Amino acid sequence: MNSSSFDTIIGTDIVAAADWLRKAELVAIPTETVYGLAGNALKEEAVLKIFLAKDRPRFNPLILHVPDIDAVKKYVLHISPVMKLLMNTFSPGPITFLLDKNPTMVSDVVTAGSSKVAVRLPAHPVTQALLKQLDFPLVAPSANRFGYVSPVTAAHVYEGLHGRIPYILDGGTCTVGVESTIVDEEYGQLIIRRTGKVSMEDIARIAGVTPVLKTHAEDHPVAPGMLKTHYATHTPLYLGKATDTSALAADKRVIIMGWGNEEAIAAAYHFPATTTLLGVISLSNDYRIDEVASKLFASMRNADNLGADAILVEPFPNEGIGQAINDRLQRASVLH
Ligand code: TXA
Ligand code: MG
Repeated sequence: MNSSSFDTIIGTDIVAAADWLRKAELVAIPTETVYGLAGNALKEEAVLKIFLAKDRPRFNPLILHVPDIDAVKKYVLHISPVMKLLMNTFSPGPITFLLDKNPTMVSDVVTAGSSKVAVRLPAHPVTQALLKQLDFPLVAPSANRFGYVSPVTAAHVYEGLHGRIPYILDGGTCTVGVESTIVDEEYGQLIIRRTGKVSMEDIARIAGVTPVLKTHAEDHPVAPGMLKTHYATHTPLYLGKATDTSALAADKRVIIMGWGNEEAIAAAYHFPATTTLLGVISLSNDYRIDEVASKLFASMRNADNLGADAILVEPFPNEGIGQAINDRLQRASVLH
């Protein structure tokens, strides 16, 4: 099967987007986290096109996007009290729930054969309006080519997918900037499968129990975003303390990323004489961690386009959304 070729349009026409989706074509949609590549979740033909357009392996399942909690109920068998509490508290918003799927409604192509389906209620007003016009839910992975950094603007989507999809619904720059938190439940235990803006601390506070962080795939055939190449820039990225990574920059042209002013970021590094510092990118001049998250993926893309041999970045404080930022950088990093 070949993917079709399109003159990809970037626009703000929700009716046009809905028309393409009804015809089982794909539309990139804005969400508060990152842009999604959406298709009709109930049409296998549309779901298969998503894997093709992204070059995504079929074993990686997709998130179902619905407008409200009533819609969730159609696609799952039940919602436990704690999951309902989290849903009522944080949805619509940057959180995804793994729930036992209703197998008569959700195809194995969506869940890659799993008995659970991932469900999310996005908060972005444009996508909320779109979902309300449709009589079917959307599956939407991040709208990047498989393995590359997730897109947070319509232009990022265009860079990766132009010619492969007919329409990009432009809803501006995504405000959160990292993908949704994924919450699972096993034998009554809450499990975080992917960190995001809704933090471990947020979830513990509402649920009254501390969730377990299990983002590694050892015990699972399918793990959320756990492939090594995920989120990677083409330019090798090194996540580590400046004291450890400075020496790796010998004979290299490097970009460094961090927070605070550029002088402060650069001052942490002590490069060999053979290093050329091509640029310093601050993700937040005044040390705001939410701003770091919102600028992270765009900055990684910018750094990737500067012709450097290496991108160096230090870990951020590992709490709240900082945990998600470090997770994405770790997956992009050549140091593991
Ligand atoms: O913020 C987000 O969640 C964005 C926006 C577009 O909504 N979407 C997103 O989708 O990040 P994607 O496909 O890039 O990442 C979804 C992750 C994948 O790593 C996948 O393995 C996991 O969710 N996932 C989906 N369904 C699952 C299932 N049934 N069981 C386990 N993991 C699942
Ligand atoms: Mg993704």
